[in-house]
Amino acid sequence: MKFQCCKCSKITEDVSSFTCSCGNLLEAKQDLSALKVSRKDFEKRSPSLGVWRFREMVHPLAGKIITRGEGNTHLYDSDKVSIYVGASVRLKHEGENPTGSFKDRGMSVGVTEAVRVGAKTVVCASTGNTSASLASYASLASLNCVVLIPEGKIAFGKLSQAIAYGAKVLQVKGNFDQSLELVQKLALENNYYVLNSVNPWRLEGQKTIVWETLLQLQEEPDWIVVPGGNLGNVSAFGKALMEWKELGWLENVPRLAVVQAEGSNPLYQTWKKNSTKLIRVEKPETIGTAIRIGNPVNWVKALKYLKATNGVVEQVSDAEMMDAKAVVDSAGIGCEPSSAASVAGAKKLVDAGTIGKNQKIVCVLTGHLLKDPDATVNYHLGKLPYAGAFRNAPVQVEASLESVEEALAAR
Ligand code: F0G
Repeated sequence: MKFQCCKCSKITEDVSSFTCSCGNLLEAKQDLSALKVSRKDFEKRSPSLGVWRFREMVHPLAGKIITRGEGNTHLYDSDKVSIYVGASVRLKHEGENPTGSFKDRGMSVGVTEAVRVGAKTVVCASTGNTSASLASYASLASLNCVVLIPEGKIAFGKLSQAIAYGAKVLQVKGNFDQSLELVQKLALENNYYVLNSVNPWRLEGQKTIVWETLLQLQEEPDWIVVPGGNLGNVSAFGKALMEWKELGWLENVPRLAVVQAEGSNPLYQTWKKNSTKLIRVEKPETIGTAIRIGNPVNWVKALKYLKATNGVVEQVSDAEMMDAKAVVDSAGIGCEPSSAASVAGAKKLVDAGTIGKNQKIVCVLTGHLLKDPDATVNYHLGKLPYAGAFRNAPVQVEASLESVEEALAAR
């Protein structure tokens, strides 16, 4: 396997630092003309193979595969969500992966590679989901695992997972961006294997979200909408689309829309101002703690693929994100706050006329509802600084039938 710089296009076989001599990130570069499988072959294989259904285009060199059966997630149809957004929406629920987020797809491939290259200790910085996923897969592969998380700023469900799966958890008195810088230094000094999305193998696994969706739909949607934090996922989506396009396996290339939180919107600002340099956010804030990132490492790749797919960048307020989440939740599907940025963003893009009312949209739900119960309960109890259009607060009653019936009649 060769690797190519996402910026200067230089090809290399040395992927040890994940970085080109020009300082930009490397991407896996497969010779697609030598591929021995067709789209039909992939279609014929069982969806239950998940990520590894696409093995030849994900990790052709894989030896022993470290897997928990990730992928093969549902693509939901919900009238409620479509009405809210104002156009036909399907929800690709990545919260249905083994540790409850899309990270498991990339982690299966990344940890498989870590084992292949003989790593002993794997490490990541995380807003929560990457650490939960890495902790699980590292344990499965009998590797030591170190995770750095921003203190007090990750959802409890995610923290509990990393601890429970046995990782060494370091709570950094700083934000995610500072934690990721530390991880890169720590790895260099100690020969640890980094499993953040700077690692191109992670993104190879995440490409399968798009391919699986295309096979489930049997036609291309007009838009694929995804929340953006460190911008690994949108980069993986763009790569997936470009590879299938190069192979002639797509009739139309769906447009990508990446949605950031208003308080953590470096890509949105960079995009709007058409800046050639990333406009960082020094103090990122949002209730969507998963995407509370001000200096996303994959921004160059993200912009490249947004251009290639005629994509757009949108931003949403925390109130918009939480209202969209409440709609997804009440549809019986549910997701964590950051995931709902995709639905809130789709609604904004339809309202603005960027997405047509007759167009077909796939919104990716990146994480499970139970990752962040605090955010959900605080929204419904009215404890957040905004009204909450879809509150469903629990009602306190006496332990008597009369009191219960009175409360139900009042509803
Ligand atoms: N949604 C969820 C639920 C996430 O956990 C993340 C990223 C994103 C969206 C954004 O994806 O970074 O590829 O743009 N979480 C990382 C973590 C940063 O550490 O768990 P991205």
